[in-house]
Amino acid sequence: MKISIINGPNLNLLGTREPEIYGIKTFEEYFDELKTIFPNDNLEYYQSNSEGNIVDKIQESGQGYDGIVLNAGAYTHTSVAIADAVAAISAPVVEVHISNVFAREEFRHKSYISPYSKGVIVGLGLKGYQLAIESFKS
Ligand code: DQA
Repeated sequence: MKISIINGPNLNLLGTREPEIYGIKTFEEYFDELKTIFPNDNLEYYQSNSEGNIVDKIQESGQGYDGIVLNAGAYTHTSVAIADAVAAISAPVVEVHISNVFAREEFRHKSYISPYSKGVIVGLGLKGYQLAIESFKS
């Protein structure tokens, strides 16, 4: 399967960013593990801190990919543009959050993306990305 993983703002800082919430592993380290777990799949990883770049990547991945794993970071709670991009494409999107956003500040409880997602995985750490990929296979 061809899977696109898209991470939003500040997720390039995983490993050092608030490790008590997000852990001590960088996404690059975790992405290497994912490629080992799914050796027969074509996994691609993209990260941007910019809303427009994320919209562009969702549009690009919307065609020809079997699924998109999207952690839009803080844009989850603010971005109509990213939600519209998810609604506009045919590839299924699974929204992932490393932390349990519902156990955190109230502004993190709202997601503009969830209504257009195939499913949502929150609070299971980086393992959420693996579970999201598995969900495209069933
Ligand atoms: C996050 C949760 C968001 O509220 C936050 O802004 C992030 C990361 C998560 O993966 O838990 O940047 O999406």
